Amino acid sequence: MATSELVGPGGEDPRRVAAGKAAVDCIAPGMVVGLGTGRTAIWAVRRLAEQLRQRSLTDVVGVPTSLATAQEARRLGIPLTSLEAHPRLDLVIDGADEVDPDLNLIKGGGGALLREKIVAQAGRRRVIVVDAAKMSPQLGTKGALPVEVVPFGWKSQRSYLEHLGAHVALRRDANRNIFETDQGNYILDCQFGPIPDAAELGQRIKQRSGIVEHGLFLQMTTDLIVAGPDGIQRYGAVSQNGPSME
Ligand code: A5P
Repeated sequence: MATSELVGPGGEDPRRVAAGKAAVDCIAPGMVVGLGTGRTAIWAVRRLAEQLRQRSLTDVVGVPTSLATAQEARRLGIPLTSLEAHPRLDLVIDGADEVDPDLNLIKGGGGALLREKIVAQAGRRRVIVVDAAKMSPQLGTKGALPVEVVPFGWKSQRSYLEHLGAHVALRRDANRNIFETDQGNYILDCQFGPIPDAAELGQRIKQRSGIVEHGLFLQMTTDLIVAGPDGIQRYGAVSQNGPSME
């Protein structure tokens, strides 16, 4: 499929739109739902708002994973709450940058990985929405692993990550200013290449002071929704038939 065919009238990729919207089928009336960040998850937010307006869903409240998502949810009239008020969530819907055959993830392309992981671990069910291009034979194959670090002493953390084998780039915004997360931290994008043991790498990264979080989301996905050229495919973490990898 040519790239131009993947762009809808609003400039959006219709596969992202479809995957995001499909996740709203998992929401039941009365649920407290974690609202993810990114170009795919935002379509779940928009679809949820639509269903609340039409009253086909009622009494749903959201916990946003970023200031950007909170802003869009408020604009659309979705009632919001916090993890302080609801430490356990019924469901969390979020996107991912890379998904392996065991439904492990790399997240953080939008820089919201810390809040996303806090919200994800509070969820009873975690629904991940992606387009088929995110499917990967092994995490690290398709892109960098984002690592969030506190600004104080960040170059020391960069050296440590290089010592672990990564090519490291400090994330910058479109104006070439240092990108700051919602928590006021920096992101180091770490190119490790294919990661043979993601759990071990995750532990080694987390043991370092000054590193706040990494984008490996391991054994957290309960449901995966993939939008590809043949439509929507749904997978459960216990499914015997995993998604095909590109
Ligand atoms: C935000 O920090 C990320 O974890 C996103 O969920 C992830 O980057 C997927 O974003 P897109 O749906 O925009 O590709």
